[in-house]
Amino acid sequence: MSLEQRRKIGILTGGGDCPGLNAVIRAATKSAIFLGYEVIGFRRGYEGLADLNTMPLTLENTANILNVGGTILGSTNRGRFSAKVGNEETRRIDADLIQLVQHNVAQLHLDGLICIGGDGSLAIAQQFFEAGIPVVGVPKTIDNDLGCTAFTFGFDSAVACAANALDRLHTTAASHERVMVLEVMGRHAGWIALHAGLAGGGDVILIPEIEWSFDNVCAKVLQRQQMGKRYTLIVVAEGAKLPGGEMVTLDAVSQQRQVRLGGIGQIIADEIQQRLETETRCVVLGHLQRGGQPTYFDRCLSTQFGAHAIRLIEEKRFGEMLLYDPPEIRSTPITEAIKRLSTVDPQGAAVEAARAMAVSFGDSPGYQNPFPKSKVSAETFAEKYNVSLSALSTSRFDDSE
Ligand code: F6P
Repeated sequence: MSLEQRRKIGILTGGGDCPGLNAVIRAATKSAIFLGYEVIGFRRGYEGLADLNTMPLTLENTANILNVGGTILGSTNRGRFSAKVGNEETRRIDADLIQLVQHNVAQLHLDGLICIGGDGSLAIAQQFFEAGIPVVGVPKTIDNDLGCTAFTFGFDSAVACAANALDRLHTTAASHERVMVLEVMGRHAGWIALHAGLAGGGDVILIPEIEWSFDNVCAKVLQRQQMGKRYTLIVVAEGAKLPGGEMVTLDAVSQQRQVRLGGIGQIIADEIQQRLETETRCVVLGHLQRGGQPTYFDRCLSTQFGAHAIRLIEEKRFGEMLLYDPPEIRSTPITEAIKRLSTVDPQGAAVEAARAMAVSFGDSPGYQNPFPKSKVSAETFAEKYNVSLSALSTSRFDDSE
């Protein structure tokens, strides 16, 4: 087969990076090359597609990247294709940009374009698909907030990073009898906070999906002190709202583009220190959660996504996104996956398990029995742990102060 006749596939990584992107690129490239495809990568996400900023992807330059964080193609969540907010209409990108991309894809004779991204990048991929571009989607984000898939790759690595931070905070918190507040990423979903809180033994977990109050958080700290635990670990998701309903952001809220979240951890730490006169420190984990090596779970998931992306192209299932439906890798129209963000179910198994261990979500002052059929009450809990019932109540605090 002459070079001109060889079928060709393009790959790009859009939006914020996360561990596992290189593993997808490697698996897709290997699988495609073994089927006789030529593979090219677009640099800097959709920008590279518009500027024809490409690089060949080969068995050689995708070797030894399985365990390497980031993306060899580069990515950006800014620029002409930056994720817009709002409804389907306001999320539309300029028609002339789509035309330019259509032209470039035709000029390159692409048989398939693999877009690896989160909800913003996949919303763009969907618009390309509607314009006749042969797109398939691979779900990526540390936030785990894409619909239809049990997990996105990157999430497990972010949780591992946050849980490791909690392990470390545990020892220093215990030594100094302090309250430690760990702020983690996740945008409007509490997945990272919840899973890291469970894996790292958080005592309080504050997430966007569950309303909480300072009274309840402080009551939990006091309750632990009464039990002889003179330190407390609090995990807060960057997207958790303050008790008044306010979101804490690093820049002004815009109608046009996604706002940067962050800062709630310090507010919580200051309030606890002031109310309880207990030394309290805040750690913002930030982009450490997005950098570094993917976990083995993420490498395995990313590798499956990469190889199955080629299957989707072979089967001409354009406009579809891969998803993980354990233990299978399936696919669904991209529109289904981006329709609604996946958020934590406050009645779900993970929250229930946490509550069963007296982890507080800040929505009650103390132990809340999650299992409706069992008869254990706050009184039983107080008796068992030799805690006065008043430590389980909010009466000591007055929010109006
Ligand atoms: O969506 C992934 C994510 O890491 C979020 O958890 C976080 O809010 C955001 O991206 C940070 O974006 P940036 O890289 O622009 O600071």
